[in-house]
Amino acid sequence: MTATTSGTSRRLGAAPDAALLDDTERMSVDELRTLQLERLRWTLRRVYDNVPHYRRAFDAAGVHPDDCRELADLAKFPTTGKNDLRDNYPFGMFAVAQDQVRRVHASSGTTGRPTVVGYSEKDLDTWATVMARSIRAAGGRPGDKLHNAYGYGLFTGGLGAHYGAEKLGCTVIPVSGGMTPRQVQLIQDFQPRVIMVTPSYMLTVIDEFEKQGLDPRASSLEIGIFGAEPWTEQMRQEMEERLDIHAVDIYGLSEVIGPGVAEECVETKDGLHIWEDHFYPEIIDPGSGEVLPDGAKGELVFTSLTKEAMPVIRYRTRDLTRLLPGTARRGMRRMEKVTGRTDDMIILRGVNLFPTQIEEIVLRTPGLSPHFVLELTTRGRMDHLVCRIEARPDCPSERRTSAAAEVAKGVKDTVGSSIEVLVVDPETLARSMGKLQRVIDNRQRG
Ligand code: DLL
Repeated sequence: MTATTSGTSRRLGAAPDAALLDDTERMSVDELRTLQLERLRWTLRRVYDNVPHYRRAFDAAGVHPDDCRELADLAKFPTTGKNDLRDNYPFGMFAVAQDQVRRVHASSGTTGRPTVVGYSEKDLDTWATVMARSIRAAGGRPGDKLHNAYGYGLFTGGLGAHYGAEKLGCTVIPVSGGMTPRQVQLIQDFQPRVIMVTPSYMLTVIDEFEKQGLDPRASSLEIGIFGAEPWTEQMRQEMEERLDIHAVDIYGLSEVIGPGVAEECVETKDGLHIWEDHFYPEIIDPGSGEVLPDGAKGELVFTSLTKEAMPVIRYRTRDLTRLLPGTARRGMRRMEKVTGRTDDMIILRGVNLFPTQIEEIVLRTPGLSPHFVLELTTRGRMDHLVCRIEARPDCPSERRTSAAAEVAKGVKDTVGSSIEVLVVDPETLARSMGKLQRVIDNRQRG
């Protein structure tokens, strides 16, 4: 049952029976590449003929869909960014008539206009298929009860998970986020085997179990499918231990389809298999835009291969990771757990720092809970970072000062930055109900 990776002990789950896999999940790399090229050429032609933005961008770059004769030719085509979606707000990136669009979703739009995405009937079926496949890869099976605490609404998490779980044959409990005591009550009463939720909100729910005097390890849950925000191996260990479950990672983004672009297999827990029959990945250097070889770390870029309503060509995700060969699904490449987004990177006095690096250090420090926030301020002319971390309820007060010093030293030793660390009382920091806002930027501008 127990495998060891980088010194941590981990439990692995059971692989699905090969007969349960989709045909494309069983393809060899060569078979998959042939399918991808055919689908890529179809997609490039469709966007050139139907989306004025892509025709203009291809013409400006001097490329035509017929120039794509092999997969490597994709690198000649221009990338697409969030700004292109904003400039064509709301429906300008759609490649079908409006009466063919069955649903739209949109990002929260914390900065400027939201980005809108659309789905045809076939796209909704594709999405449910990759989500069903993801839940199965995580260990879910037809007949399982699945508690869905991803937010329902314009966010793609709730409805994306919902239809995938139904397609797999699960009984969905569509709870959405929030009302934490009720989440616990529903888990106790309905006895789900699988939970889908952001990792930060899972922690809030685990805390609520304990607050109600219940043992989370005794719950019916066996599998947690966590995504929509970065989380670390240390966080996996924390959740697996406190809930006695398998914790696996799910990745996706609205522009590409929503959740279900890539999923970690429970039998290996070694990064996320990208469903390459639908989404073609590349890694580029975020500065130069140059395509990097598999294994090199950079920005993840996706081209949709089968989408009808809103195909995307070389969409820049801003997520940092690298591509690795397939394991549990030999044809499909894996992406390493995302360490952060280019936009989440804190540049502190010239040193790059990601919140996940601090998460790793906090979680290996005895006495500290996983609840922490990072506040950036300006002191003198310098950027200053304060990390506030809640003590665990059983942490003796005399331990707090040394724990804070250990985190500050850990950050200095591994990242090279000096930060201020404050250990605060349990239950004093705001809790996430969905995607966590880890960094508060209060720096003076100008
Ligand atoms: O967060 C889709 C999703 C919902 C994925 C539920 C998984 C579970 P957006 O709101 O468009 O879509 O945000 C996409 O979230 O570019 C990443 O920065 C981040 N993200 C999503 N999954 C992961 C993950 C959904 N597993 C953005 N690890 C992406 C790290 C993730 N970051």
